[in-house]
Amino acid sequence: MARIVDAKKQQEETSEELSLRPQLLKEYIGQKQLLDNLKVFIGAAKHRQETLDHLLLYGPPGLGKTTLAHIIANEMKSQIKTVTGPSIERTGDLAAVLTALEPGDILFIDEIHRLPAIVEEVLYGAMEDFHVSVLVNREGSSRTINLALPPFTLIGATTRAGDLSSPLRGRFGITEKLNFYSQIEIEAIIKRTAKVLQMPIDDQAVSELGKRSRGTPRIANRLFRRIRDFAHFEKQNAIHLDLTQKALQALKVDPLGLDDVDIRYLLGIIDRFKGGPVGLEALASAIGEEIMNLEDVYEPYLLQIGLINRTPRGRVATEKAYQHLKRPFQGLLF
Ligand code: ADE
Repeated sequence: MARIVDAKKQQEETSEELSLRPQLLKEYIGQKQLLDNLKVFIGAAKHRQETLDHLLLYGPPGLGKTTLAHIIANEMKSQIKTVTGPSIERTGDLAAVLTALEPGDILFIDEIHRLPAIVEEVLYGAMEDFHVSVLVNREGSSRTINLALPPFTLIGATTRAGDLSSPLRGRFGITEKLNFYSQIEIEAIIKRTAKVLQMPIDDQAVSELGKRSRGTPRIANRLFRRIRDFAHFEKQNAIHLDLTQKALQALKVDPLGLDDVDIRYLLGIIDRFKGGPVGLEALASAIGEEIMNLEDVYEPYLLQIGLINRTPRGRVATEKAYQHLKRPFQGLLF
């Protein structure tokens, strides 16, 4: 079965997917507080004709970190250059990226928590006073040369802000968290997507899809396209509730938007560990999933909707989880 929730973003992004992304702040739905702050910081930087301060965006995958980086570039009329943390293995790789920057550019580092520690250290000087030291090895002797960089803005994105070293975190002038979207916001995003893709959807179907999208635009948009496939296959030119339910059932997305990994996670706690508390390592190994994947991708939403709790002694399933999975609840044993 295809996973609805991917740990990693799909590598190849179709042009259709890109066209679903808002280009400007005024088109962006949700994250109101974050957007209000950004408007101030962008407006002030433009007024002073300066670059925006370095910005760290963190939060679960699929909530719009990359989209926001592109919107900021559009609003600042800047070029954006994108790299990912794991793609930069050596200090020289980062030095090459930094020295190719032009004044006012935005450097977007996705998964910045996965930068190797020695590479991180090169970033400190680049962020603080726009310089980079490179070690040059020539004819057996090596020396360090200091290069001045043009003023630029670093935008870092991460699902794990806690994994950044504190010197790196401290060098971001702005740190903002992205939260799950409300039902109303997700519904507005689905309606916008329907317009962009020119596929009508009725209100009941919007509501149903919204409830099953885990407050996550990327999931809502992906499911929308799959439901559209079912509609086209059945030669229907609009999306209705019955088709939405049928498609989501076929895609194994349950009424709360949970997929098979969520279900195995919850049943793992309930059936194998008597409801918990259980340490994440033991649970991950019992259900054959990676710890990081569970922590970054699955747990945030299960916590958000109150199906699990994190206690000092480990994870526990809540009464709501037992009810959802139709298991008798005998009270918490801790
Ligand atoms: N598409 C994906 N995320 C969106 C958002 N936050 N606002 C508008 N359209 C979106």
